[in-house]
Order: sequence, then structure tokens, then C-alpha cells
Amino acid sequence: MINVGVIGCGYWGPNLIRNFVMNPDTELLWACDLDEERLEKVLSPYPGVRRTTSIDDILSDPSIAAVAIATPVHTHFPLAKISLESGKHVLIEKPLASSVDEGEYLVSLAREKGLQLMCDHTFCYTGAVRKMKEIIVSGELGQLYYFDSVRINLGLFQHDINVIWDLAPHDLSILDFLIETKPIQVSAKGACHAGNGLENIAYVTIEYADNFIAHLHLNWLSPLKVRKTIIGSSEKMLVWNDLEPAEKIKIYDKGIMVKDEEMEERGRLLVSYRSGDIYVPHIDQTEALSVMITEFASCIKEDRQALTDGEAGLRVLQILKATEQSIKNDGANVPIQ
Ligand SMILES: NC(=O)c1ccc[n+]([C@@H]2O[C@H](COP(=O)([O-])OP(=O)(O)OC[C@H]3O[C@@H](n4cnc5c(N)ncnc54)[C@H](O)[C@@H]3O)[C@@H](O)[C@H]2O)c1
Repeated sequence: MINVGVIGCGYWGPNLIRNFVMNPDTELLWACDLDEERLEKVLSPYPGVRRTTSIDDILSDPSIAAVAIATPVHTHFPLAKISLESGKHVLIEKPLASSVDEGEYLVSLAREKGLQLMCDHTFCYTGAVRKMKEIIVSGELGQLYYFDSVRINLGLFQHDINVIWDLAPHDLSILDFLIETKPIQVSAKGACHAGNGLENIAYVTIEYADNFIAHLHLNWLSPLKVRKTIIGSSEKMLVWNDLEPAEKIKIYDKGIMVKDEEMEERGRLLVSYRSGDIYVPHIDQTEALSVMITEFASCIKEDRQALTDGEAGLRVLQILKATEQSIKNDGANVPIQ
């Protein structure tokens, strides 16, 4: 049993609380929030869980092995730092921190202390994304060409981060999990319509090695909710609609065939089109947070790197940083370092 405390009981924290309580490998001993009323409300179904408004109470409890941090992004770094310094394993919500420098500091602190630093890149634990990984690795899609994602709705305008820091970590963590080649550079455009200087709409293009390209369309000001991704590739193509209750992924046997001889002999491109069957693979419906928490617990027990470890969180921060720079420079290409 791994004894855990959850910090932050706002919108997302209760999902972690419920999953830590249900997980056979973890025991939730503490929950913390600065807002006492919120804390009481969220913990009312769990009378056995101790509650506090100070993280110090959790960190000074020697029976606590790990904490999960679900507080606003600007607080991730100080809370994770003090938790690691207190010898606790840390699970932290996406994005890992507010800057690459902060992320690098946390990754090296965790390494130095021999502690787990894991980032909750929730989508990487969904049945849909795990199935996508399986299909890509099997080679069924052939060579990957592009990843085209639309993630838009009438979203909650955040006070401390723009739409990119809020929504792009989902796509960037999925790309990090699915795509073997490295991202090279990013160009992005965005706009703010709420007068607070934080972009509520953004178009982000990421170039990879091997002519692979990714495009993210992110928007908090859309009348429609869309969560759709297309993976274009040489053999079959994949469409993921996360709002579909059952048939989330469809594989299309569609594509083009280019006649090279025609190009060589007559100097023109001859393209023929292939249109075959469409199939719907079965997807595991286990709740992603349950899979994620099982991964966190087993990484602590087995002392191994998590699927979405601090390094994965840091790679997402590096692309977010380059995206911010590109927006400030009117969409210029910015190398990802
Ligand atoms: N993985 C996902 O799919 C997903 C979804 C939503 C949010 N998130 C992430 O979860 C985190 C929290 O987001 P949210 O929407 O729940 O925010 P929220 O504002 O609803 O809740 C944050 C809570 O943290 C508390 N808090 C702030 N500072 C604290 C401190 N120092 N100590 C203790 N409690 C403190 C606040 O009182 C509040 O109740 C963010 O990092 C966000 O990106 C992840």
C-alpha cells in the first residue's frame, strides 16, 4: 500500500481523490486545499481522509510516501519542489511547471533524491490513445505523415494561463507518446478576445523529422465542442473522435498511390486513389485516471521510470516555450530545444 496525500481539491482534484481511494495499491490518508469549505464538500464522501489547509501537515507525516498536486499551474513548481525536498514521490498535473527552467529543476531534484516525478498526461492512459499506439507500432498505418487535431469548445477562461498552456499539453503529450521522431521547430499564431492578454484561440504547427507535421487548433471560444484528431499516413488513416461514446477510433483503408515511372518519363505526377473498408477497433473502457494511478504506484514499488515521467513533462514544456516565442514573433519558426 502506498500512502498518498492530494493537494488541490478544485475541479480536477476530486477525480484523483476518487481514484486513489478506489485503487487497491494506494491509500488516501490526506487531502489539502486552501479553501476550507471546498475541502469539506469534496471530502464529505470520505470521512476517513484527514483534511488540512497546509501542505506542511502532509509533508511532515512520515507515513506519507507520495503526493499528487492538482493546483493552478503557477503553484506546481513550489509545491512539487517542497514535496521532493521532503522525500515524497510526486505526481503532478499537466503541465509539469510554468517554465522549462522550473521543469528542469524538478527533474534533476527528483533524480538526485531517487524519487518518482510523474506528470498526469491523462490522455496517454486512455483506451483510445493506447489503441492508437498499438496500431502505429504494428505498422498498419505505414509511414506517418501528419497529426491534425481540433480541440475546441466554449471553454473555461483561465486566469493565469492562455489556451495553449491549458489545452495543448493534451495533444503534445499524446504526440510525445505516439511519435518516435523528434519535433524540430514550431510556428504559432494566436489571438486574445477577452482583453486580458491571454490568447483564447491558437493555431500551432510543429515540424518533425521525416517530413511528419502536426497541427493543433485550440479554442476556448467556439460554439461547438470538437475533439477530433486525424492521423494521415501512407497505408491506412486513423480518425479519433473522443466525443463518440463507443466508436472513438475508425481506421480508413484510404490513400493515394503515386506512379513514380510516370513522373520520371513524362515529368508529371500521376496519382490514383484507394478507397477500401473502414473498421472500428475495440477500445478498453477502463478509466484513464485509474490506469495512470496504477502506473504511479507500480513505478514507486518497482523503482522504474513512469510512462509519463518528469522528462516527458519537460519535453511538453519545451514545445510550449517555443510556441510562446513564436506567437510573440508573429508566427516565426522557433527551434525546439
Ligand atoms: N489531466 C487533466 O485532464 C486535467 C484536467 C483539468 C485540470 N487539470 C490540471 O489540474 C490542475 C488544477 O486545475 P483545476 O481545474 O482543478 O483548478 P481549480 O482552480 O478548479 O482548483 C485548484 C484548487 O487548488 C487549490 N489551491 C491553490 N493553491 C493551493 C495550495 N498552495 N495548497 C493547497 N491548495 C491550493 C485551490 O483552492 C483550488 O481549490 C491544473 O494544473 C490543471 O492544468 C488537468
